[in-house]
Amino acid sequence: MKKLIAGNWKMNGTLADAKALISDICSSLSGAGDLYAHNDFVVCPPQLHVSLVKEVISDTAAKVSVGVQDCSVNDFGAYTGDTSPAMAKDMGCEYVILGHSERREYQEESDELIAQKAVAAHKQNLITIICVGETDVQRDAGTEKDIVAAQLEKSMPECCTATNTVIAYEPVWAIGTGKTATPEDVRQMHEFIREKLKEKLADSEDVRILYGGSVKPANAAELFAVPNVDGALIGGASLKAEDFLAIAGASVEIAQAA
Ligand code: PGA
Repeated sequence: MKKLIAGNWKMNGTLADAKALISDICSSLSGAGDLYAHNDFVVCPPQLHVSLVKEVISDTAAKVSVGVQDCSVNDFGAYTGDTSPAMAKDMGCEYVILGHSERREYQEESDELIAQKAVAAHKQNLITIICVGETDVQRDAGTEKDIVAAQLEKSMPECCTATNTVIAYEPVWAIGTGKTATPEDVRQMHEFIREKLKEKLADSEDVRILYGGSVKPANAAELFAVPNVDGALIGGASLKAEDFLAIAGASVEIAQAA
């Protein structure tokens, strides 16, 4: 399966920064057949920048999907400040990140709300990137698998399939900290997630499971070599075109070494 290289730009940059970043990504991708042979790409800019990012991509031959970083459970109405799945779809978005740990923490989003958002997103044919992951306290207590199992159980509605759902395992303590889970920790957790998916989905083998948390060019190859790591959800390093594409380059390296 091709790796999914997903950039989560979070709440960063001006419109000019977004334009420069996506332009750099698109121009570096032009003629990069090897990268496309082994990767699919999605960027999730701040919602306000989606339109410009779409426009820049459509003026090039680059194949980069666009996603939003969250969505409402409602399509239209009096929900001040929210972005709806219908609006994201209308803008040409294909993906939505749901249940990122920053939203679980700062917006107090529950697993149940995330599942409702996933239902709403799937109705609009958006692909949901559902994030799960334990905190350092939970890992130190040895409960990381219980936490992730409960998040998967409650955040994934019945309508999830391998076609409309991607899982991102993002240990909270590794996000934006420069700390990365060891390949062995990642191997164990991704294998565990695959097992849990088997209990829920008929096509579980085809669900992409991304790793996220301080992924950078220097560690991408060792992470991508781990079984059941089907790509990365990248925060900080996705803000530099060079790093974002170097991470994708790791998939090519692994495939060629195999
Ligand atoms: P990071 O963020 O790569 O900056 O650690 C990952 C994420 O939050 O998705």
